Order: sequence, then C-alpha cells, then structure tokens
Amino acid sequence: MDGIFVKKEKVDFLTQDSKSDLALLLEQKNLEVMVQKIDKNSLIWLTPGSDKNMVEFFYIVEGSLSLENSEEKITLEKNDCFYTQDLKNKVLLQSNTDMKILYISSGSVYEYLDNFYDELNFLLDKITEKDEYTKNHCKRVADYCLFISKKLKCAEAVIDNIVVASLFHDVGKCYIPDEILKKSHNLTNEEFKEIYKHPTYSKKVLLGKFSDEVTRIAYEHHERLDGSGYPCGLRGDQLSLEARIISVADSFDAMTSKRPYNKVLSFSEAADELYSLKAKYDIKVTRALKELVDNGELLQMINEVKA
Ligand SMILES: [Fe+2]
Ligand SMILES: [Fe+2]
Repeated sequence: MDGIFVKKEKVDFLTQDSKSDLALLLEQKNLEVMVQKIDKNSLIWLTPGSDKNMVEFFYIVEGSLSLENSEEKITLEKNDCFYTQDLKNKVLLQSNTDMKILYISSGSVYEYLDNFYDELNFLLDKITEKDEYTKNHCKRVADYCLFISKKLKCAEAVIDNIVVASLFHDVGKCYIPDEILKKSHNLTNEEFKEIYKHPTYSKKVLLGKFSDEVTRIAYEHHERLDGSGYPCGLRGDQLSLEARIISVADSFDAMTSKRPYNKVLSFSEAADELYSLKAKYDIKVTRALKELVDNGELLQMINEVKA
C-alpha cells in the first residue's frame, strides 16, 4: 500500500506519573501530531510563541475542560476542538475530568514540552522523595493561592505565576538535613538558621527553569509586611502582591495541618487569626481568605478538586 503509513505500536507516553502525559504520534517538517493525557483539575497554559504563523490545534478525544479569560468561561467537551494562532496573551485552561486531547502543531513543540515536563517531574520527585508532608503541603498551598487570587480577581499572569511558584516554593527544603527538617521542637539557633535558608535554595533550584517572577515569588514566601520575615526581611511595598498571597496561603496550610509541633486550627480559626495579624499579612488577602472560609466557598472548592 504505497503512501499509507500505519503505526500500530502502543503510544509511548513521556512518563507514566506526570500530571500531563504527552506522546508524539507523528513528526514531519512543520507538523507534529501528539496525544496528551491530562489528569482532572490540571491547569494548562497556552502561551504566545515567537512564530506568528504557527498553528496549534486541539481536539478533545475524551473529557472536558474550561477555557477562561477575563471576559468569559467556556466549557469544551468530547469532540469539541479549538486552535491558536498568533496568541497575544496566555490563556488558562483547566481540565474538569481526566482527559485525552489530540494536539497538532505546525511547529516544533514536543521537544520543548518533553524537557519542560521532565524538569517538572524531576522537581516533584525531589520533593516527594524528601518528605510526603512537603509534597502535599505544596499542592494545598497552590490550591489556596489559586482560590485567593481568583477571589481577588488578579490578572491571569499573576495567577499563573503564583500557582507554579507555590507548587515548588519549598523545593529548597530538599537541601535541609532530615535531622533538622523533621525535628519537632527545641531547635537551636544554628538549626533555625539552616531552615531559614530554604527559600534561597528554592530560588537556586528554580532559577533558569521558570520565569524570574515565579522564582521571586518562591523566594519571598516567608517575607512579612512588618519586615519580620526571611530571608531578606522585606517590608511593606517591597512585597509583591504574589508574595503577600503565597505567605497567607502557606501560613494557613501550616496552621490547619497536623504537625508534631503545633495545635491544628480549624479553617475558620486560622483565617480569623491571620486576619488579626494585620502588621504581618496584607489585609486584602486575609479578608479574601476569611470570606472564602466564612461563606463555605473554600471547602466547596477543595471538595470539587478532590471529587
Ligand atoms: Fe517555606
Ligand atoms: Fe511552605
């Protein structure tokens, strides 16, 4: 059968464990055909590229996703398709279910995505190997950052950066010795100094892998408005909105999680306490969190993510 090329081998997904698995089905000049598996509740960004003529076409084989910009939210389902060309701004997609998407590109993207997912998986594995708590903590902080920044109607670029930064904000803990990291009480000054280095280590790991904004947010997650935070002791206007949000989300999760050295607070106790600490935390951010907790939205959103 001249001119017909049949591929019957099993699809080779990049990694079995990644959040978004991608397999290259066909590669030719100016054409890449891929299939992508996406877990439920994953965030996917479509980003502007340098080639204005490049077309990226997506066909939903299974599942559904929401496409959100500042004006509207569109839900796309099985057999729907969409494509991008000369995209001006980043667009955020969120999968509503486990999904499979056929992805056709007129330019080369597979190698870039392959490397990008490798980097992400490497970092996630590093965090998971170190400590199960840190892995789950990072995921919860990313969720809280997403909910709070949406409540504050932040720009999409801000939401993108903060969610990525929060997923990896504590990756620097991988470089803190276990005997210090897992010590529950009576830490010496020297041991505290060691723990205070983890945002700097996170910055070193993320630098070059992610944008400067993402790296900076992770670096600043322990800074406080009154200058009492670390590692730089930034104060007031020196703290970006993203740093103000991640610091609240990070503290909220620490206060509401079972740890050997603290009493677990309920969501509403933790939100009230953070709201009362006006010198340290941005009142707009703690008010948004308190509203999310008080009207039950936070719990509802968490349940939706878990469902
Ligand atoms: Fe931290
Ligand atoms: Fe943290």
